Amino acid sequence: MKRSAEVLEYPASLDETIARMKSKLEGVMPEFEIKLKAEYAHKINVLKREMNAVILGHNYMEPALYHSVPDYVGDSLQLSALSAETDADIIVFCGVMFMGETAKILSPRKTVLVPSEEAGCSLAAGISAADVRTLRNRFPGAVVVSYVNTYADVKAESDYCCTSGNADKVIRHLMDEGHKRIIFLPDEYLARNTAAEMGLPFFPANAGEDTLPPDKPAVIGWHVRCEVHELFTVEDVRNIRRQWPDAVILAHPECSPEVIAEVDVAGSTKAMSDYVQNVDAPRYALFTECSMGDNLAAQFPHREMIRSCSLRCQYMNQITLEDTLDALEKCQYRVELSDELIERARPPIDRMLSLR
Ligand code: 13P
Ligand code: SF4
Repeated sequence: MKRSAEVLEYPASLDETIARMKSKLEGVMPEFEIKLKAEYAHKINVLKREMNAVILGHNYMEPALYHSVPDYVGDSLQLSALSAETDADIIVFCGVMFMGETAKILSPRKTVLVPSEEAGCSLAAGISAADVRTLRNRFPGAVVVSYVNTYADVKAESDYCCTSGNADKVIRHLMDEGHKRIIFLPDEYLARNTAAEMGLPFFPANAGEDTLPPDKPAVIGWHVRCEVHELFTVEDVRNIRRQWPDAVILAHPECSPEVIAEVDVAGSTKAMSDYVQNVDAPRYALFTECSMGDNLAAQFPHREMIRSCSLRCQYMNQITLEDTLDALEKCQYRVELSDELIERARPPIDRMLSLR
């Protein structure tokens, strides 16, 4: 399978690590901090080779980590696919816990580590397996699609998994198979935005079955939101337009439908990164977790990124180089799921990956 995440090669010596990090991060971080962080990065890179570990880094990792230790970086879809393919004995997932769980489900015999126990997610915390069962009872015969930002027990109750990078493709596939009732969990905004993009009606989970169109497909959503992306407002978009009329504004589809309607591009973290790489514009503003803007500014120095650094994901922020070194040295924190749960949670992920 084609590997679409960027493959990062790292040099062995501390001096080379410092030089590499300086070349990427000089405009983003002070030099003394780069040197300090490089010491951790160097130790991690030595240890990961000795332990035959692979490090996967989500696009929201802080710049010092993102540009120093991951073997692969990418969005949740790319990193899920990579976890199914790797030959390493240990997967260190520099991302949040639901991502580590997805890696464990796809590679159950491997040791999967997430460097902090605090790396949660407001979406994953906002729905339970019992909620999914209740919804199935309320809408008999409906197909259940769960965003990858859910825990394993919720995936185990679902028919399909999806990410923000393929939600439309999964729904299109289900419509082609003749499904009319598509329960899309748990992010209300991603559900509304995907339904709007596809011209489908959206209904909240408490809608009565009799209010749904009898013969046409409909998306039924849940009520939780990403605590980071829900904070962006239409006023923020208009402010950027006033200050920089030539800026291209890109937003993650976890933002509200009102925000998505006013921006220029909506897409997953990979889609936003690809856009900045491939489409020439005077400047770019990202409505997403703010580390990603720093990472892109370091990766594409010829591009002008408007830095808006007030919104950080408190969960992604837990993963630091210091914790990643600790994770390797102490082999912590292991993602543990029962065989029975893995067996039930895997088919929805496999169905999603088979549509790539
Ligand atoms: P991506 O799937 O676009 O990488 O995003 C994951 C996420 O948690 C966004 O908040
Ligand atoms: Fe979850 Fe939002 Fe953080 Fe992504 S940014 S991990 S959706 S809380």
